[in-house]
Formats: sequence, C-alpha cells, structure tokens
Amino acid sequence: MNNPSPVRLGCLVSGRGRSVLNLQTCIENGSLPATIALVASTKPDVEAIRHARQRGLPCAEISDQPRKTLDDRLDDALHAAKVDLVVLAGYLRLFRVGHWVDRCLNIHPALLPRHGGAGMWGHHVHQSVLAAGDKESGCTVHWVDDRFDHGEIVLQRRCVVEDQDTPTTLAARVFEEELVALPEAIARVARWRNGLASRPSSGGTIPTSTAERSCNM
Ligand code: GRF
Repeated sequence: MNNPSPVRLGCLVSGRGRSVLNLQTCIENGSLPATIALVASTKPDVEAIRHARQRGLPCAEISDQPRKTLDDRLDDALHAAKVDLVVLAGYLRLFRVGHWVDRCLNIHPALLPRHGGAGMWGHHVHQSVLAAGDKESGCTVHWVDDRFDHGEIVLQRRCVVEDQDTPTTLAARVFEEELVALPEAIARVARWRNGLASRPSSGGTIPTSTAERSCNM
C-alpha cells in the first residue's frame, strides 16, 4: 500500500500565506496526500486569509478576545473541521499544544536550535543569522511543544549565506527551502499515520537538491 489516505490539515497563519498556498499546490499536483481542512488566523485582516479564500480554501478568523478562551476556541475550530494535523505556517502566537502533541508541526526559517525562540520571527531571524556571521542558514520543521521553536526536529534544509546578503535576500533563499521542507515533513507524517513509516524525527538533515523542487506557488 503506497497511497496514504489524505491527512486533514489545519493551518494556522499570521502572515502572507505563501506556505499554505504552496501546500495547496502540492496537494493539487498530487505530490502531497493531504487536504486543507481549515486555514485559521487569530489576527484580523491577514493577507494569508485573503489569499486562501481566493484559492477556495475553508477559512476562519478567530478573534483573540477574550484572550482567556482563545486556545479553547482554536481547538473547537480545529475539531469542527476534523483536523488531523495542525500546521503552524507562519503563526506568530504560542499555540497550546495540549492534546495536539505529535499532531502539530511548525516551520521556522533558521537552523534550530540557533536563532529561535520568542521574538525570533521574520526579518529578526535573518538579521540574527547575519549578525552571528553564520555561513549557512536554512529552515527547520519540528514537532510543536509548549515552547517557541523548541520541539523535536523533523527535518532541516540548508542553504548558504552569501557575504553580501541582507535579511531580505537571505529570507528569499531560505524560503525556497521552506517550499520543499514543509510538504516533505507533512508527507512523512502522513506515511507514519498510515503505518507506512516510523514516526518522523530527524537527527539528520536532508541535502538541498533543485531536482526536488516540485512544488511552487
Ligand atoms: C515563513 O518564513 C515561515 O518560516 C515563518 O513564517 C513565514 C511564513 O510566510 N514561520 P507566509 O505567511 O507563509 O508567507
């Protein structure tokens, strides 16, 4: 049996939504055995929700007030959409992992454990990489626990840092790796859920190969 049944994704977003649109492209071209059951934001008017709606994806804007019940309301929305796997696809809040342990992935635009944690998002990450003088960067997909950017690593992809890089040029190069890493990590989880592979966790990294870039927005 090589065709895992589609995993139902609940994607939480705060930003532009490129990652979610890329997942949908991978699903449509048959390279990712998944379906996007929900795209949800806890910030009003995010670009990601506009783009996801235009693409015909089911979306929810969940008010972050009252803050005390936000995690419960998020759980309710994810359950109502029958989500199997939560994907933090550019989600800036701390997600209450609760019973989503082993059912929630995050993608971070650096090689964790370097350049992660509270406040490390967007250009802050790439500024930190450049300020540290790192010669390589990349992205990390990891299981989510109760700390920012902290859970067990599923996979990483690497890229070079060029001498003349700015946070913007580095972010663009890293994002090319993210376009491959996130669908690949989800596909591995799907294989595990279907009893076709062991639970994905890394140790290792996978090499960059342009031949693997099958998914684009
Ligand atoms: C990505 O760089 C991801 O690593 C980070 O947020 C960005 C998502 O961008 N967590 P987008 O909202 O998918 O365009």
